[in-house]
Amino acid sequence: MGIQLGDTAPDFTQESTQGKINFHSWLGDSWGVLFSHPKNYTPVCTTELGEVAKLKKEFDKRNVKVVGLSVDQLKDHEGWSKDIEETQGAKLNFPLLADADKTVSNLYGMIHPNASDTMTVRSVFVIGPDKKVKLMITYPASTGRNFDEILRVIDSLQLTAKHKVATPVNWKQGQDCIIVPAVSDADADKMFPKGYKKVKPYLRVTPQPA
Ligand code: BEZ
Repeated sequence: MGIQLGDTAPDFTQESTQGKINFHSWLGDSWGVLFSHPKNYTPVCTTELGEVAKLKKEFDKRNVKVVGLSVDQLKDHEGWSKDIEETQGAKLNFPLLADADKTVSNLYGMIHPNASDTMTVRSVFVIGPDKKVKLMITYPASTGRNFDEILRVIDSLQLTAKHKVATPVNWKQGQDCIIVPAVSDADADKMFPKGYKKVKPYLRVTPQPA
């Protein structure tokens, strides 16, 4: 069975553009995003890496460390990094694992043989400070990811880790939340001083907790 939500993210040691990374100690107390790229010198991957470099401040604000992965050699990453800077206007400012021996790709099930025997799919793993896997998304090689959506989910994960709320469809930071069903009305009265609207007994809407 592959990795499932709530599992401890497998630890590894692998080369990267910022030196050898021991994943768990590199993460420390931060949240983490580990995402894979099918191959170096491919167009969609080039745009994605440029975008993540531009979003680095957003990840930092949320205490999230980001690491990319491609199943190529470190020396190829170095050449490709120059192209990313030239074409996307952003220098790689986070590590890119050189997973040529596929240690990490295999540990995280990033190679889907019915899609490709050699290239990884576009996997995204969000890992909490407790090293547990909080989110997994898999995209095909031909579809570039939406990293605003990854940030949106991180906002939801960080909020729901602190407060007994869930976030509704298309929720964005600052919008109303839903009180989880396990909280009784009596407890909700105490926990949510801004109040809540009881649309149905199971659907109670409250302003986003601070
Ligand atoms: C790309 O990153 O552009 C790409 C990689 C593999 C297959 C299709 C597109």
